[in-house]
Amino acid sequence: MSLEQRIENAKITRDALRGDPITGDRYYSKEFAQKEWDHVFTRTWQIGGMAAQLAKPGDVITQAIGAESILMTCDEDGTLRAFYNACPHRGNRLVADEQKSGVKRLVCAYHSWTFSMDGVVRHVRDADDYPQGNPIGKMKLKEIRCETLGGLVWFNMDPDAPSLRDYLGVAGELFDRYQTGNWVRVNWLTGLVDCNWKIIHDNFNEAYHILSLHRELGTFIDDAHQNTEFELYENGHNLMKMKGHQPSANARATVVQAPLDAILQEWDLDPAAFNGRPRDTRVAIQQQKRTLGPARGHTHYDGLADEQLTDYHHLTLFPNTTLTMSSDFFQVLRPMPHPSDPEKCLFDHWYMMPPVAGRDEVDTPVGRRKFEAAPHESFMHGEASIGFVADQDLSVAIAQQKGLHSRGYQDAYLSGQEDRVRRLHDVINDYIAGRR
Ligand code: FES
Ligand SMILES: [Fe+2]
Repeated sequence: MSLEQRIENAKITRDALRGDPITGDRYYSKEFAQKEWDHVFTRTWQIGGMAAQLAKPGDVITQAIGAESILMTCDEDGTLRAFYNACPHRGNRLVADEQKSGVKRLVCAYHSWTFSMDGVVRHVRDADDYPQGNPIGKMKLKEIRCETLGGLVWFNMDPDAPSLRDYLGVAGELFDRYQTGNWVRVNWLTGLVDCNWKIIHDNFNEAYHILSLHRELGTFIDDAHQNTEFELYENGHNLMKMKGHQPSANARATVVQAPLDAILQEWDLDPAAFNGRPRDTRVAIQQQKRTLGPARGHTHYDGLADEQLTDYHHLTLFPNTTLTMSSDFFQVLRPMPHPSDPEKCLFDHWYMMPPVAGRDEVDTPVGRRKFEAAPHESFMHGEASIGFVADQDLSVAIAQQKGLHSRGYQDAYLSGQEDRVRRLHDVINDYIAGRR
C-alpha cells in the first residue's frame, strides 16, 4: 500500500470531532493536570534529546518532564536506554547534569551506590549490611521504553505502549521523508512561561492567528485557510500543510516583498520578473531548488516532493509536540507540563538544520549562529527571545491564561480552521476516560 493510501486510511473527517467543551478549568485546575499526567504524559512517546548527544559510549543525558527527570544512557555496545532518574536506594535524583560524556559509572551523590550504564547496581558500600540481601547485580534503575527516530531519542513511561513507529503511524512516515537523522540542533531554547502547556499547544494547532500576530509572515507564507490543507489522523496526531515561498492570498502587494525577494535571488531568480504575479514564486523556487539544490550541497532535496521544497508542513504529535517541517530546517515546538503548577509550563524550542558542504554559520530564529550543536539556553519568558515568531505567539499567552479564569468564559467557539484545537481536547478526554 502506498503512503498516500495509508494517509487516506488514517484520516478522519470533521464529523468525527465530538466537540467536547473546552472549559477554563482545563488550563488551571490541579486535579485536571493530575489526570493529564496520569493518563496522557505517562502513556505517550516524548522526545528526550538528540541522538547525536548519545552517539558515543558513556554519553548521558537527562530530560525533565513534569516532576520527573528521565535519564538516558549509551552503554559500551552503543545501546541506548532510558530510566527514571531516581536512585533505588533512597530516591535521590541520580544525575543532575543535562548532558555528560565519557561516563563509565553513574555514582549517586548520597551514599555512592554505583550503577553501570545498563542501570544495574555494581558497587555498594557495606554491601553485606543489607538484611534483605546484597543489592549488587540485583537492584536496577527503573527502566522505561527508549527508541530513536529521525535523529531524535524518544522515551515512553508506559511499559504497554505501542512501539514509537506504531504510535506515530503515518505521521512518522511523513517525518521520515525529510531524512533528518544527521541534522544539527543549532538552537536549544527553553522558556519558563506563565501559562498552561495547552495554551501554547493550542496556538500551534491553528494558523488563524497569523494575520493578527505575525502579519509579516504573509509576505512569504500563504496563511489563507482556503489554501491550507488540514489532516486529522485517527491516532490523535495531525498535519497542517501551508504553502510557502508565495505571499498570502490575503496579501495585497503586487510585487515581491522581503524576505521573498532575497530568497529568489539566492536561487538565481529576479524578483522583478514576478511583478504583478508574486504568487508564481513558489513553483519557480521549487524548480530552481530541484535543479540547483543538490549541486549546492542540499542532497536531501532528492527525497522530498516538490511541495516539500517550499511549503511548511506542521506535524502535530499528540499530546504536546509540534514538528514544523521544511526542506531547510525543522523545529521542535513543545510546551512541557510544569512540575507542580498547571498555570506554568516549560516551552522548548529546538531549531534543526541539515549539514551542507561548506556551511559554518546559519541564520536561526534567534540570530546568526555557528553551525554546530548548541548549548542549552534556559530562561524566564521575557528575559530573552525564544525565536521572533514564538515571541509573538507568547505575547498573548499570559493574557489568555488570565482570561480563561473569567466567569465570562464558558467554552471555545471555534472556526473550521481550528479543528485541530478541538481534536487535541477530544483526544485528551479519550485518554483520561480510558477510551484509548
Ligand atoms: S540515595 Fe542513592 S545511594 Fe543512597
Ligand atoms: Fe503563531
